[in-house]
Amino acid sequence: MKKIINACLIMFSISASAQTQLAVPDTLVGTNFALNMHKDSVQFFPTGNISHTYAFNQYKYLGPTLIFNKGDNINISVTNQIGDTTTVHWHGLHVAAANDGGPHTPIMPNATWNPQFMVMDNAATYWYHPHTHKKTAKQAIKGAAGLIIVRDAQEAALTLPRKYGVDDFPVIVQCQQYDSVNQAMSLGMEDSTIMVNGARANNGYSVYGNFPAQVVRMRLLNASGERSFNFGFTGNKSFYQIASDGGLLNAPISTTRVRLSPGERAEILIDLSGMNGQNIYLMSYASEIPMGVQGGPTMPMPPGSPPMDSPLNGIDFNIFKINVVAPTSNPVTTIPSTLVTNTPYQTSQAAITRTINMTAINMMSMDGPFYFNGQLFDMMRIDYHIPMNNIEIWTLSNQTMVAHPFHIHGVQFYVLDRDGNAPPANEQGRKDVVLVSPNETVRFIAKFEDFADSLTPYMYHCHVLMHEDDGMMGQYVINPLNTGVKEINGVDNSISIYPNPANGIVNIETSLTDVNSIAVYNALGELVYSENKSGLHQIQLNTNTWSKGMYNIIVNGKGKIQNKKLIVN
Ligand code: C2O
Ligand code: CU
Ligand code: CU
Repeated sequence: MKKIINACLIMFSISASAQTQLAVPDTLVGTNFALNMHKDSVQFFPTGNISHTYAFNQYKYLGPTLIFNKGDNINISVTNQIGDTTTVHWHGLHVAAANDGGPHTPIMPNATWNPQFMVMDNAATYWYHPHTHKKTAKQAIKGAAGLIIVRDAQEAALTLPRKYGVDDFPVIVQCQQYDSVNQAMSLGMEDSTIMVNGARANNGYSVYGNFPAQVVRMRLLNASGERSFNFGFTGNKSFYQIASDGGLLNAPISTTRVRLSPGERAEILIDLSGMNGQNIYLMSYASEIPMGVQGGPTMPMPPGSPPMDSPLNGIDFNIFKINVVAPTSNPVTTIPSTLVTNTPYQTSQAAITRTINMTAINMMSMDGPFYFNGQLFDMMRIDYHIPMNNIEIWTLSNQTMVAHPFHIHGVQFYVLDRDGNAPPANEQGRKDVVLVSPNETVRFIAKFEDFADSLTPYMYHCHVLMHEDDGMMGQYVINPLNTGVKEINGVDNSISIYPNPANGIVNIETSLTDVNSIAVYNALGELVYSENKSGLHQIQLNTNTWSKGMYNIIVNGKGKIQNKKLIVN
């Protein structure tokens, strides 16, 4: 992020327009990863206060790009230095719920969380961000997010640009609202500050990237709190979409637009051959976004509603400039005709159809709170118990006035239809977010496999972060096939809790060595009990006075934290 600091210095001398080169976050590679989430600050604005930010590692905003190889067993340590409880979620990855970083695995201030998992996902672009109970928006829009690139053999066998920062560029786009003292607002519906890879890109600022005159790949992530982008290039130049959220498509799709709602990713190829010396902008053609989808024209508001009239609504605008420069040696100059074979599940394989109605108390409401099936999120309520290996159809029906990007953890899904019609070609691959427009019904099919854990839930929610924090979220667990079968949840083999569920005395035992504390948190992340003593390996507690519900047992060993759920009845 040095470039951003430089840009800020330049800004003071050039008042017209500060230009900054597209930042390309460094990569972390290998099988051991260390992320340190910390507080920082950036002088985003030429006058007034610094903006308080959260970031990972050496950055002041956002974090490094993690490169994972499919099949690798990886080990991550996430240290929380933000002075508040947080979590880190691997958005889009198929990992056990206990490793997924949802709100049930809080990382206390100054603690380190140690998820370990095998990378089972296909080559694509994923991302990481906090998922703290009721604080996801606040923490994510302060900058605690980064990209994950998964590589695999199938992708590696294709002739595609994959030299990171050379012909393969991360493009993290956010639209933010800053208040009068320059702080990011998590509830901002007047979002008008575009950020690209962490640098301001409009309102007197611009970002440019030097891209070689050949086929270039861009990994687009919409990391905004609520706005959808309708990406395209100057003059409607055509390009190819090659990947959706969770994998490559069957074949590149020639197009002039790709619309991404919050949380969605797309990988695209643009052929810049022969354009050396020219320039072109990545744009959002938001004039084509329908009313009701955030980013489209502002809706007429019922009296008394909060403002949601960003000047960017419903207009076409530039995001960043691509200066086409000399080609590299051995450039990719062709677009492959096919990519991979996606095999969606058949509807006849589905064991059940679940219906999720997106509703609001007041059907005219445009700012929520919004519900799934009339219920707000409850950390203590498991909405669905899904038998291991179930193939399921989920029917999402939007009965509100605004669009909701629906996201589910733990699985990639295939969109079956939108209002009964087959989805467009770019939605026929693997996905984990799907935008559901007002009055629309979208069905997807997914298989719930590999990780049973009847105690740790996976989340599904609206990826408009304000809607999520306000309760537009639910949770499911995957039940083991038969009771007695050992549950696979990745991190807790070294902790046993019995009886569990408990009602009265409960024993907690660990086989971890060098344990120095055992702590119990309730579902809200509040400390209920802790014992600090080196060499601890067994404690007995009386849960009689505890309220019923789910508790998180955290065993802190030397440089390692393990956690497991306890249910009190
Ligand atoms: Cu990107 Cu549940 O989150
Ligand atoms: Cu996710
Ligand atoms: Cu929503």
